[in-house]
Amino acid sequence: MNLKHLFSKKEGARLTPELRARIQASFDHAAADEEHFPSTIDPRIYHVKLIREHLGELRGRRVLDVGCGKGRFARIFREQEPEAEIWGLDISEEMLRHVPEGIRTRAGSMTELPFEDAFFDGAYATESLEHAVEIDRAISEICRVVKPGGRIAIIDKNAEQWGRLETPEWEKWFTRRELERLLQRHCSEVTSRFISYWEDVEPDGLFLAWLAVK
Ligand SMILES: C[S@@+](CC[C@H](N)C(=O)[O-])C[C@H]1O[C@@H](n2cnc3c(N)ncnc32)[C@H](O)[C@@H]1O
Repeated sequence: MNLKHLFSKKEGARLTPELRARIQASFDHAAADEEHFPSTIDPRIYHVKLIREHLGELRGRRVLDVGCGKGRFARIFREQEPEAEIWGLDISEEMLRHVPEGIRTRAGSMTELPFEDAFFDGAYATESLEHAVEIDRAISEICRVVKPGGRIAIIDKNAEQWGRLETPEWEKWFTRRELERLLQRHCSEVTSRFISYWEDVEPDGLFLAWLAVK
């Protein structure tokens, strides 16, 4: 394994304006690629189910999808609970164009969230934190905008599996302990587990879910 790609080895990396513009341009371009960046996801997939279970009751609650892309997760939660107030935040305005009506969108970076403290009842991020570059800052921001007692779910890839997929040079994957430690700075309860797309299929070690209560 090439250790330089592990999160701990990239801890000092900075999201400079140049790098931010490059990441944004890359995802603006990727938005046209519906095959690799789909607008929908099968609601039976375990990632969806686990986030929903962790967030709990959504009716009347305000929830943020961090790095929402085309809003494939937000779309399902909104369909499941039309009385939830779902927001999607993404660095790419081209991605946000695909987010369905009824979901509030905001363009911006998760390292500098354009929301006041404790604005949300819960937040989740699926395969987006890996692109944030300043991971500790993104985690503080996500935790800052969630109310005390609110729920946070992060699904991302396991650093120990680095090399399994092609990745842009800014991408980072995480070990369980790395993200647990960052979340523990702001949250009272933090757990992590391996997951697969299907609940009855043994996880192969690629995907991890971190679940926290602020
Ligand atoms: C692999 S896609 C995942 C999208 C969505 N979460 C999903 O599961 O369908 C990663 C997303 O993160 C967004 N992103 C990358 N860096 C970001 C940042 N600093 N702040 C907010 N969004 C970011 C990208 O524009 C892209 O839409």
